[in-house]
Order: sequence, then structure tokens, then C-alpha cells
Amino acid sequence: MDLAEIYKRLGKNSWKILDAIFKNLWNYKFVPVTVISDHAKIDEEKVKKILKSLGDERIVINKYTEYEGATLTFTGLSLYSLHKLVEEGYVKALGKKMGEGKESMIYNCLSKDGEAVIKFHKLGYQSFKKVVEKRDYGNLNFSVLSVRSAKREFSALKKLQGLAVPEAYANEGNAVLMELIDAKELYKVRVENPEELLDMIIEEIAKFYRGGIVHGDLSEFNILVGDSFWIIDFPQSMEVCEEGWDDALRRDVSNILKYFRRAYRIERDINSTLELIIGDTGDRCDREGEVRSSGSG
Ligand SMILES: Nc1ncnc2c1ncn2[C@@H]1O[C@H](COP(=O)(O)OP(=O)(O)OP(=O)(O)O)[C@@H](O)[C@H]1O
Ligand SMILES: [Mg+2]
Repeated sequence: MDLAEIYKRLGKNSWKILDAIFKNLWNYKFVPVTVISDHAKIDEEKVKKILKSLGDERIVINKYTEYEGATLTFTGLSLYSLHKLVEEGYVKALGKKMGEGKESMIYNCLSKDGEAVIKFHKLGYQSFKKVVEKRDYGNLNFSVLSVRSAKREFSALKKLQGLAVPEAYANEGNAVLMELIDAKELYKVRVENPEELLDMIIEEIAKFYRGGIVHGDLSEFNILVGDSFWIIDFPQSMEVCEEGWDDALRRDVSNILKYFRRAYRIERDINSTLELIIGDTGDRCDREGEVRSSGSG
């Protein structure tokens, strides 16, 4: 599937219909044709005709039982988000697909300030199950979960701006527009100064912590190394004091120490490393899960 190709083929009414579906995803699993028609200001018969062809292109999924309605596919949601970024002037052109993770699709693009990256969030069934177990999102559909995931990543990146993370430019729907990093995943490279890099990564985790964020999925797959290093992939990040943040931090640190032990035979103790990160701010959360306003922290 080539997003740029499909993008060019869609007409004004198709965009209005995608917009109408998107705006109503929080209220309906399948948005009724009547609601789409009202929102898009296009008569019902025409809406049905366009939905049929959007269905053939796998941009929407149509439903005909009980009532007629439609919902967005991952392609449809990504097209909607891309269209928003273009309309707002953030994106000039979509480039090549750079990669596809289990929970995202990464595209190169031309932003208003030069080359950049768009990460389209995609929450599959596996993570859907996981998320539903962890937080009670109820009966929400994949689109809503993917939008939440993008929001969470964007807001974490924004909070950590200036640290070793890609600069985040914009967020629409399931898309996050961010700085293009020219570097390779840690697991793919053999670094010359592993001790020093490990120290810097630990110091960075400490800075994130002081900024109120725990990554939550840190590993050799989510660290990029080049002239410098960057930490990426924040959809599962947590705020310090949110339920489970301390387990997440321990897991992050443990993953990193394990990798450096395996790849470079560097031995570090997890508890003293955690102490380094948390310092004397260990009890900065009160019972309501808020960061204490007074004291060190
Ligand atoms: N800002 C960026 N600049 C350059 N490459 C990037 C950038 N963001 C992501 N990538 C590339 O895309 C890959 C996947 O990105 P990311 O880790 O954010 O998502 P993901 O792996 O799909 O998420 P998950 O770990 O849940 O599967 C990265 O390993 C990296 O190669
Ligand atoms: Mg990743």
C-alpha cells in the first residue's frame, strides 16, 4: 500500500467523509451513514456511493447489518492524519516508507523546515489486548487506541525536548511528525566506547525521570546511535508517580544493563544504578499518585 498514491487519488468529498468518520470515532465503532452525511453535508446516497469505493480501496470498513455505517482502517486513519498535517502546512510531501514496526509505520517526508519523519501509530490486536487489560479502555476501537498512542508519544517527546530525543513537530490523529535522526539502532552497531555510552544513557534516563517521564519500553531497539545517541519510541511512556512507574523504570534499566552485559561484558548493579537515577527523590509521589510539590524533586 502506497499512502502517497492513494492520497493523490482522493477528492474533496472523500476527505470530508474521512473527517466525519474520524470526528465520530469516539462515539461509534461504526459511524452511521446518517451521522456522516450530517457532518460532511453530503447527501446520504452520495455518501454511500463514496463509502463503497473507499471500502474497495480498504480505506474504510463498511457495515450493512443493523444500520449502515463505516469505520476507518489503519490506512484510512493514516490518510486522514496526513491530510491534516498537509492542510496545516507542516508537511509538504510524503517520501518513502522507512520501516514498519509491530506498532507503527515510519515514513520519510518533507516538512516545512526540511526532511523529517512521520510515525503512524498502529495498535494491533496483541497490544489491544494488553492495553485493555492494563487500563480499562472498554470497547474502544483500534483507531481510538492508535490516536491515544500517538498523543502519548507526542506529549512525552514535547516534555523531553532538548534531551536526547527526536524533536517533535506536530501530532494529528495517529501521526507524529518528528525530526529525522540519522543513526542506527544500538543492537546493529558495535560501539567503541561502551562504558561511556552506558553512563550517558543512564544519565539520560535520570534526566527523563527529573522531567517526570519514564520511557517504559527501553531497549537496544529503541536507542539510535550515530555521532551521538537518541532515545525513541515513547507511546508506552509513563509519568513519574503514575501507577506502575517504578516497575517500568526498573525494567528499562534492567534491559539496558542486560544488553551491555551481553554485548560488552560490562557489569553494573541494578540497585545502585537505580539509586543513581532516582537519587534522594525516592518518595516524591504522594498517595494520590501526584508528584509532591515541595522538597527535592
Ligand atoms: N525520528 C526517527 N528518525 C529516524 N528513524 C526513526 C525515527 N523514529 C523511528 N525510526 C526508525 O523506525 C523504527 C521503528 O520506530 P519506533 O521504535 O519508534 O516504533 P516501533 O518499533 O514500531 O514501535 P514498537 O517498538 O512498539 O514496535 C526505529 O527502529 C528506527 O529505525
Ligand atoms: Mg521500537
